[in-house]
Amino acid sequence: MNKKTVMRPVGMPQSVSSPVVTPIMPSVVYASATPDSLDDQYEGRVHGYTYAREGHPNADVLAQRIDALEGADGGIVVGSGMAAVTAVVMGLLQSGDHIVGGDQLYGRSLRLMKEDLPRLGIETSLADPTNSAAMEAAIQPNTKLILIELVSNPTIRIADLDGIAAVCKARGILLAVDNTFTTPLAVKPLERGADIVIHSVTKLMAGHSDVTLGYVVANTAALNERLHTFAVTTGLTASPFDCWLAERGLLSFELRFERAQENATKLASYLAGHPKVKRVLYPTRVDHPDASRAQAVFQGVGCNMVSFELHGTRPEANAFTLGAENLAFAPTLGDVGTTLSHPPSSSHRALTEAERAAIGITEGFFRVSVGLERIDDLIAEFERGLAAV
Ligand SMILES: Cc1ncc(COP(=O)(O)O)c(C=O)c1O
Repeated sequence: MNKKTVMRPVGMPQSVSSPVVTPIMPSVVYASATPDSLDDQYEGRVHGYTYAREGHPNADVLAQRIDALEGADGGIVVGSGMAAVTAVVMGLLQSGDHIVGGDQLYGRSLRLMKEDLPRLGIETSLADPTNSAAMEAAIQPNTKLILIELVSNPTIRIADLDGIAAVCKARGILLAVDNTFTTPLAVKPLERGADIVIHSVTKLMAGHSDVTLGYVVANTAALNERLHTFAVTTGLTASPFDCWLAERGLLSFELRFERAQENATKLASYLAGHPKVKRVLYPTRVDHPDASRAQAVFQGVGCNMVSFELHGTRPEANAFTLGAENLAFAPTLGDVGTTLSHPPSSSHRALTEAERAAIGITEGFFRVSVGLERIDDLIAEFERGLAAV
Protein backbone atom coordinates (compact mmCIF):
# COMPACT_ATOMS: atom_id res chain seq x y z
CA MET A 1 0.00 0.00 0.00
CA ASN A 2 1.23 3.49 -0.78
CA LYS A 3 1.90 4.97 2.65
CA LYS A 4 1.12 8.51 1.46
CA THR A 5 -2.52 7.58 0.94
CA VAL A 6 -2.92 5.89 4.33
CA MET A 7 -5.27 8.04 6.36
CA ARG A 8 -3.70 7.40 9.73
CA PRO A 9 -4.33 10.33 12.12
CA VAL A 10 -1.30 12.55 12.59
CA GLY A 11 -2.42 13.77 16.05
CA MET A 12 -1.92 17.31 17.28
CA PRO A 13 1.16 19.20 16.10
CA GLN A 14 3.74 19.34 18.90
CA SER A 15 3.80 22.57 20.92
CA VAL A 16 5.51 23.39 24.20
CA SER A 17 2.70 25.89 24.85
CA SER A 18 -0.93 24.87 25.27
CA PRO A 19 -4.17 26.35 23.94
CA VAL A 20 -6.14 28.61 26.29
CA VAL A 21 -9.42 27.45 24.78
CA THR A 22 -10.64 23.84 24.80
CA PRO A 23 -10.08 22.38 21.31
CA ILE A 24 -13.10 20.89 19.52
CA MET A 25 -12.55 17.14 19.27
CA PRO A 26 -15.10 15.65 16.88
CA SER A 27 -13.41 12.27 16.44
CA VAL A 28 -16.05 9.53 16.48
CA VAL A 29 -13.53 6.82 17.14
CA TYR A 30 -10.22 6.62 19.01
CA ALA A 31 -7.29 4.42 18.00
CA SER A 32 -5.63 2.27 20.67
CA ALA A 33 -2.13 0.78 20.48
CA THR A 34 -2.92 -2.91 21.01
CA PRO A 35 -5.79 -5.24 21.99
CA ASP A 36 -4.19 -5.36 25.47
CA SER A 37 -4.36 -1.61 25.87
CA LEU A 38 -7.99 -1.67 24.68
CA ASP A 39 -8.68 -4.28 27.37
CA ASP A 40 -7.16 -1.92 29.93
CA GLN A 41 -9.45 0.87 28.76
CA TYR A 42 -12.63 -1.23 28.78
CA GLU A 43 -11.78 -2.69 32.18
CA GLY A 44 -11.21 0.83 33.58
CA ARG A 45 -7.53 0.22 34.46
CA VAL A 46 -6.57 3.27 32.39
CA HIS A 47 -8.68 6.09 31.03
CA GLY A 48 -9.09 6.34 27.28
CA TYR A 49 -11.84 7.27 24.87
CA THR A 50 -13.07 4.58 22.46
CA TYR A 51 -16.15 5.77 20.61
CA ALA A 52 -17.85 9.18 20.81
CA ARG A 53 -21.30 7.86 21.76
CA GLU A 54 -19.63 6.34 24.82
CA GLY A 55 -17.97 9.63 25.74
CA HIS A 56 -15.74 12.32 24.29
CA PRO A 57 -13.50 15.10 25.63
CA ASN A 58 -15.81 18.06 24.88
CA ALA A 59 -18.73 16.49 26.78
CA ASP A 60 -16.46 15.66 29.70
CA VAL A 61 -14.98 19.15 29.89
CA LEU A 62 -18.46 20.70 29.89
CA ALA A 63 -19.77 18.19 32.45
CA GLN A 64 -16.84 18.92 34.76
CA ARG A 65 -17.51 22.65 34.58
CA ILE A 66 -21.18 22.12 35.49
CA ASP A 67 -20.16 19.66 38.22
CA ALA A 68 -18.05 22.43 39.73
CA LEU A 69 -21.04 24.82 39.76
CA GLU A 70 -23.37 22.23 41.31
CA GLY A 71 -20.79 20.97 43.84
CA ALA A 72 -21.11 17.57 42.16
CA ASP A 73 -18.85 14.90 40.77
CA GLY A 74 -19.28 12.60 37.75
CA GLY A 75 -22.15 14.35 35.94
CA ILE A 76 -22.83 13.68 32.26
CA VAL A 77 -23.83 15.91 29.37
CA VAL A 78 -26.55 14.65 27.03
CA GLY A 79 -28.26 15.90 23.88
CA SER A 80 -31.05 17.95 25.51
CA GLY A 81 -32.71 18.73 28.81
CA MET A 82 -35.34 16.13 27.96
CA ALA A 83 -32.59 13.56 27.34
CA ALA A 84 -31.42 14.24 30.92
CA VAL A 85 -34.96 13.80 32.30
CA THR A 86 -35.33 10.60 30.24
CA ALA A 87 -32.01 9.21 31.54
CA VAL A 88 -33.26 9.64 35.11
CA VAL A 89 -36.77 8.24 34.78
CA MET A 90 -36.00 5.45 32.31
CA GLY A 91 -32.43 4.72 33.36
CA LEU A 92 -33.21 4.35 37.08
CA LEU A 93 -36.78 3.00 37.16
CA GLN A 94 -38.29 -0.24 35.96
CA SER A 95 -41.69 -1.65 35.18
CA GLY A 96 -43.75 -1.83 38.37
CA ASP A 97 -42.04 1.18 40.01
CA HIS A 98 -43.91 4.36 40.82
CA ILE A 99 -42.79 7.98 40.47
CA VAL A 100 -44.34 11.17 41.90
CA GLY A 101 -43.84 14.30 39.82
CA GLY A 102 -44.59 17.95 40.50
CA ASP A 103 -47.94 18.80 38.91
CA GLN A 104 -46.53 21.78 37.01
CA LEU A 105 -43.41 20.24 35.50
CA TYR A 106 -42.19 21.39 32.08
CA GLY A 107 -44.72 20.27 29.42
CA ARG A 108 -42.66 17.43 27.91
CA SER A 109 -41.72 16.09 31.36
CA LEU A 110 -45.44 16.05 32.15
CA ARG A 111 -46.12 14.19 28.91
CA LEU A 112 -43.47 11.64 29.84
CA MET A 113 -45.24 11.16 33.18
CA LYS A 114 -48.72 10.95 31.71
CA GLU A 115 -48.13 9.00 28.48
CA ASP A 116 -44.76 7.33 28.06
CA LEU A 117 -43.88 5.98 31.50
CA PRO A 118 -47.32 4.35 32.03
CA ARG A 119 -46.95 2.76 28.56
CA LEU A 120 -43.72 1.14 29.84
CA GLY A 121 -45.35 -0.10 33.04
CA ILE A 122 -43.99 2.66 35.30
CA GLU A 123 -46.79 4.11 37.43
CA THR A 124 -46.94 7.86 37.88
CA SER A 125 -48.73 10.40 40.09
CA LEU A 126 -48.62 14.17 40.09
CA ALA A 127 -48.84 16.33 43.22
CA ASP A 128 -48.32 19.94 44.27
CA PRO A 129 -44.62 20.47 45.13
CA THR A 130 -45.37 23.68 47.08
CA ASN A 131 -46.96 21.35 49.64
CA SER A 132 -44.71 18.56 50.94
CA ALA A 133 -47.68 16.89 52.67
CA ALA A 134 -49.41 16.60 49.28
CA MET A 135 -46.28 15.07 47.78
CA GLU A 136 -46.02 12.63 50.69
CA ALA A 137 -49.69 11.68 50.33
CA ALA A 138 -49.00 10.64 46.72
CA ILE A 139 -46.28 8.17 47.76
CA GLN A 140 -47.09 4.46 47.33
CA PRO A 141 -45.21 1.39 48.58
CA ASN A 142 -43.54 1.09 45.12
CA THR A 143 -42.52 4.79 44.87
CA LYS A 144 -38.84 4.99 43.93
CA LEU A 145 -38.41 8.59 42.75
CA ILE A 146 -39.80 12.10 43.19
CA LEU A 147 -39.14 14.60 40.40
CA ILE A 148 -39.66 18.32 40.97
CA GLU A 149 -38.76 21.71 39.54
CA LEU A 150 -38.09 24.38 42.14
CA VAL A 151 -39.86 27.15 40.27
CA SER A 152 -43.00 26.27 38.38
CA ASN A 153 -43.36 27.38 34.80
CA PRO A 154 -45.00 29.83 34.12
CA THR A 155 -46.71 30.46 37.45
CA ILE A 156 -43.42 30.91 39.39
CA ARG A 157 -44.60 28.99 42.47
CA ILE A 158 -41.75 27.83 44.74
CA ALA A 159 -41.45 24.15 45.69
CA ASP A 160 -40.92 23.13 49.32
CA LEU A 161 -37.47 21.68 48.64
CA ASP A 162 -36.50 21.16 52.27
CA GLY A 163 -39.84 19.55 53.17
CA ILE A 164 -39.80 17.19 50.17
CA ALA A 165 -36.13 16.29 50.73
CA ALA A 166 -36.96 15.36 54.35
CA VAL A 167 -39.87 13.15 53.18
CA CYS A 168 -37.64 11.42 50.60
CA LYS A 169 -34.90 10.80 53.13
CA ALA A 170 -37.31 9.38 55.70
CA ARG A 171 -38.96 7.09 53.13
CA GLY A 172 -35.80 6.02 51.24
CA ILE A 173 -36.98 7.59 47.96
CA LEU A 174 -34.67 9.30 45.47
CA LEU A 175 -35.25 13.01 44.92
CA ALA A 176 -34.47 14.46 41.47
CA VAL A 177 -34.52 18.25 41.03
CA ASP A 178 -34.67 19.93 37.64
CA ASN A 179 -32.62 23.05 38.45
CA THR A 180 -32.97 24.70 35.02
CA PHE A 181 -34.87 27.82 36.14
CA THR A 182 -33.09 28.31 39.43
CA THR A 183 -29.50 27.44 38.43
CA PRO A 184 -26.74 26.53 40.92
CA LEU A 185 -26.02 30.22 41.46
CA ALA A 186 -29.29 30.41 43.42
CA VAL A 187 -29.72 26.81 44.67
CA LYS A 188 -27.45 23.77 44.81
CA PRO A 189 -29.99 20.96 45.26
CA LEU A 190 -27.40 18.30 46.26
CA GLU A 191 -26.48 20.44 49.28
CA ARG A 192 -30.17 20.61 50.21
CA GLY A 193 -30.92 16.90 50.23
CA ALA A 194 -31.54 16.07 46.56
CA ASP A 195 -29.98 12.89 45.09
CA ILE A 196 -30.07 13.93 41.43
CA VAL A 197 -29.82 17.25 39.62
CA ILE A 198 -31.01 17.83 36.06
CA HIS A 199 -30.44 20.79 33.74
CA SER A 200 -31.61 21.92 30.37
CA VAL A 201 -28.19 23.39 29.48
CA THR A 202 -30.01 24.82 26.42
CA LYS A 203 -31.32 27.61 28.65
CA LEU A 204 -29.30 29.88 30.95
CA MET A 205 -26.10 27.86 31.09
CA ALA A 206 -25.37 27.82 27.35
CA GLY A 207 -27.28 31.08 27.24
CA HIS A 208 -27.37 32.07 23.56
CA SER A 209 -30.25 30.01 22.10
CA ASP A 210 -27.90 28.27 19.67
CA VAL A 211 -27.46 24.85 21.24
CA THR A 212 -29.68 22.12 22.73
CA LEU A 213 -28.08 20.17 25.59
CA GLY A 214 -28.77 18.65 28.98
CA TYR A 215 -26.85 17.61 32.09
CA VAL A 216 -27.55 15.15 34.87
CA VAL A 217 -25.64 14.16 37.98
CA ALA A 218 -26.38 12.02 41.02
CA ASN A 219 -24.82 11.99 44.47
CA THR A 220 -23.31 8.50 44.22
CA ALA A 221 -20.88 6.93 41.74
CA ALA A 222 -23.21 3.91 41.42
CA LEU A 223 -26.18 6.06 40.29
CA ASN A 224 -23.93 8.05 37.93
CA GLU A 225 -22.73 4.80 36.39
CA ARG A 226 -26.33 3.70 35.75
CA LEU A 227 -27.21 7.07 34.21
CA HIS A 228 -24.12 6.97 32.01
CA THR A 229 -24.76 3.39 30.87
CA PHE A 230 -28.38 4.17 29.95
CA ALA A 231 -27.36 7.37 28.11
CA VAL A 232 -24.70 5.68 25.96
CA THR A 233 -26.86 2.61 25.27
CA THR A 234 -29.83 4.69 24.14
CA GLY A 235 -27.66 7.23 22.29
CA LEU A 236 -28.53 10.34 24.32
CA THR A 237 -24.96 11.55 23.75
CA ALA A 238 -24.29 15.18 22.85
CA SER A 239 -22.28 16.43 19.87
CA PRO A 240 -18.73 17.76 20.49
CA PHE A 241 -19.52 20.97 18.61
CA ASP A 242 -22.57 21.65 20.78
CA CYS A 243 -20.59 20.92 23.94
CA TRP A 244 -17.88 23.32 22.83
CA LEU A 245 -20.42 26.09 22.16
CA ALA A 246 -22.07 25.50 25.51
CA GLU A 247 -18.72 25.60 27.31
CA ARG A 248 -18.03 28.95 25.70
CA GLY A 249 -21.45 30.19 26.84
CA LEU A 250 -20.99 28.80 30.33
CA LEU A 251 -17.86 30.88 30.88
CA SER A 252 -20.02 34.02 31.06
CA PHE A 253 -22.96 32.34 32.80
CA GLU A 254 -22.41 33.96 36.19
CA LEU A 255 -22.17 37.48 34.77
CA ARG A 256 -25.18 36.92 32.52
CA PHE A 257 -27.25 35.51 35.35
CA GLU A 258 -26.44 38.41 37.65
CA ARG A 259 -27.39 40.97 35.01
CA ALA A 260 -30.57 39.12 33.99
CA GLN A 261 -31.66 38.76 37.57
CA GLU A 262 -30.99 42.46 38.30
CA ASN A 263 -33.02 43.41 35.20
CA ALA A 264 -35.80 41.00 36.19
CA THR A 265 -36.09 42.56 39.66
CA LYS A 266 -36.38 46.07 38.16
CA LEU A 267 -38.77 44.97 35.42
CA ALA A 268 -41.01 43.26 37.99
CA SER A 269 -41.19 46.51 40.03
CA TYR A 270 -41.99 48.54 36.93
CA LEU A 271 -44.75 46.13 35.84
CA ALA A 272 -46.23 45.99 39.34
CA GLY A 273 -46.72 49.77 39.26
CA HIS A 274 -48.38 49.83 35.83
CA PRO A 275 -52.17 50.38 35.68
CA LYS A 276 -52.64 47.95 32.78
CA VAL A 277 -51.00 45.11 34.71
CA LYS A 278 -53.23 43.09 37.04
CA ARG A 279 -50.52 41.14 38.88
CA VAL A 280 -46.81 40.33 38.76
CA LEU A 281 -45.10 37.12 39.87
CA TYR A 282 -41.45 37.35 40.86
CA PRO A 283 -39.99 35.23 43.67
CA THR A 284 -38.20 37.89 45.69
CA ARG A 285 -41.14 40.34 45.73
CA VAL A 286 -42.96 40.63 49.06
CA ASP A 287 -46.32 40.17 47.29
CA HIS A 288 -45.27 36.77 45.88
CA PRO A 289 -47.54 33.96 47.15
CA ASP A 290 -44.51 31.96 48.36
CA ALA A 291 -42.40 34.98 49.41
CA SER A 292 -40.98 33.56 52.62
CA ARG A 293 -40.13 30.22 51.04
CA ALA A 294 -38.56 32.01 48.08
CA GLN A 295 -36.25 33.83 50.50
CA ALA A 296 -35.31 30.52 52.13
CA VAL A 297 -34.79 28.64 48.85
CA PHE A 298 -33.03 31.37 46.87
CA GLN A 299 -31.14 32.83 49.86
CA GLY A 300 -31.30 36.37 48.51
CA VAL A 301 -30.71 35.48 44.87
CA GLY A 302 -33.58 35.84 42.40
CA CYS A 303 -34.13 34.42 38.94
CA ASN A 304 -34.45 35.77 35.42
CA MET A 305 -38.12 34.84 35.00
CA VAL A 306 -41.01 37.25 35.58
CA SER A 307 -44.65 36.44 34.87
CA PHE A 308 -47.42 39.02 34.70
CA GLU A 309 -51.07 39.27 33.83
CA LEU A 310 -52.58 42.06 31.76
CA HIS A 311 -56.05 43.40 32.41
CA GLY A 312 -57.84 41.99 29.38
CA THR A 313 -58.05 38.93 27.18
CA ARG A 314 -56.66 37.76 23.79
CA PRO A 315 -57.07 41.13 21.94
CA GLU A 316 -55.07 42.89 24.67
CA ALA A 317 -52.42 40.12 24.56
CA ASN A 318 -52.14 40.52 20.76
CA ALA A 319 -51.89 44.31 21.10
CA PHE A 320 -49.11 43.96 23.66
CA THR A 321 -46.87 41.71 21.54
CA LEU A 322 -47.44 43.91 18.47
CA GLY A 323 -46.61 47.05 20.46
CA ALA A 324 -43.47 45.55 22.04
CA GLU A 325 -42.21 44.65 18.57
CA ASN A 326 -38.52 44.53 19.53
CA LEU A 327 -39.05 41.78 22.09
CA ALA A 328 -38.90 38.29 20.60
CA PHE A 329 -42.27 36.61 21.11
CA ALA A 330 -40.76 33.14 21.36
CA PRO A 331 -41.33 30.40 23.95
CA THR A 332 -37.81 29.80 25.22
CA LEU A 333 -35.87 31.12 28.18
CA GLY A 334 -32.38 32.01 29.29
CA ASP A 335 -31.26 33.77 26.10
CA VAL A 336 -29.11 36.92 26.14
CA GLY A 337 -32.14 38.77 24.73
CA THR A 338 -35.48 39.08 26.50
CA THR A 339 -38.12 36.67 25.19
CA LEU A 340 -41.85 36.73 25.78
CA SER A 341 -44.04 33.68 26.02
CA HIS A 342 -47.85 33.52 26.13
CA PRO A 343 -48.68 30.16 27.78
CA PRO A 344 -52.37 29.99 26.66
CA SER A 345 -51.27 29.96 23.00
CA SER A 346 -48.09 27.87 23.48
CA SER A 347 -46.97 25.69 26.41
CA HIS A 348 -50.46 25.41 27.96
CA ARG A 349 -52.60 25.36 24.83
CA ALA A 350 -53.55 21.69 25.31
CA LEU A 351 -55.30 22.56 28.59
CA THR A 352 -58.94 23.69 28.63
CA GLU A 353 -59.67 27.28 29.60
CA ALA A 354 -61.00 26.03 32.97
CA GLU A 355 -57.84 23.97 33.61
CA ARG A 356 -55.70 27.01 32.84
CA ALA A 357 -57.86 29.24 35.06
CA ALA A 358 -57.39 26.77 37.93
CA ILE A 359 -53.64 27.48 37.90
CA GLY A 360 -54.08 31.20 37.27
CA ILE A 361 -53.26 31.29 33.55
CA THR A 362 -55.64 33.60 31.71
CA GLU A 363 -55.46 35.04 28.18
CA GLY A 364 -53.68 38.10 29.58
CA PHE A 365 -50.88 35.98 31.13
CA PHE A 366 -47.29 36.39 29.90
CA ARG A 367 -44.00 34.87 30.99
CA VAL A 368 -40.88 36.95 30.43
CA SER A 369 -37.38 35.49 30.25
CA VAL A 370 -35.42 38.62 31.06
CA GLY A 371 -32.23 39.19 29.08
CA LEU A 372 -29.19 41.42 29.32
CA GLU A 373 -30.45 44.62 27.66
CA ARG A 374 -29.93 47.98 29.33
CA ILE A 375 -32.82 48.20 31.77
CA ASP A 376 -34.00 51.60 30.46
CA ASP A 377 -34.24 50.20 26.92
CA LEU A 378 -36.08 47.15 28.18
CA ILE A 379 -38.61 49.14 30.19
CA ALA A 380 -39.14 51.48 27.22
CA GLU A 381 -40.03 48.46 25.11
CA PHE A 382 -42.53 47.21 27.69
CA GLU A 383 -43.93 50.74 27.88
CA ARG A 384 -44.54 50.64 24.11
CA GLY A 385 -46.25 47.28 24.42
CA LEU A 386 -48.46 48.37 27.30
CA ALA A 387 -49.33 51.66 25.56
CA ALA A 388 -50.67 49.60 22.64
CA VAL A 389 -53.01 47.65 24.92
C1 LIG B 1 -37.52 23.26 33.38
C2 LIG B 1 -37.20 22.60 32.07
N1 LIG B 1 -36.70 21.36 32.07
C3 LIG B 1 -36.40 20.71 30.92
C4 LIG B 1 -36.61 21.32 29.71
C5 LIG B 1 -36.25 20.57 28.45
O1 LIG B 1 -35.05 21.06 27.96
P1 LIG B 1 -34.62 20.89 26.40
O2 LIG B 1 -35.49 21.83 25.63
O3 LIG B 1 -33.17 21.27 26.42
O4 LIG B 1 -34.86 19.47 26.05
C6 LIG B 1 -37.11 22.62 29.64
C7 LIG B 1 -37.33 23.28 28.36
O5 LIG B 1 -37.86 24.37 28.28
C8 LIG B 1 -37.42 23.28 30.87
O6 LIG B 1 -37.92 24.52 30.88
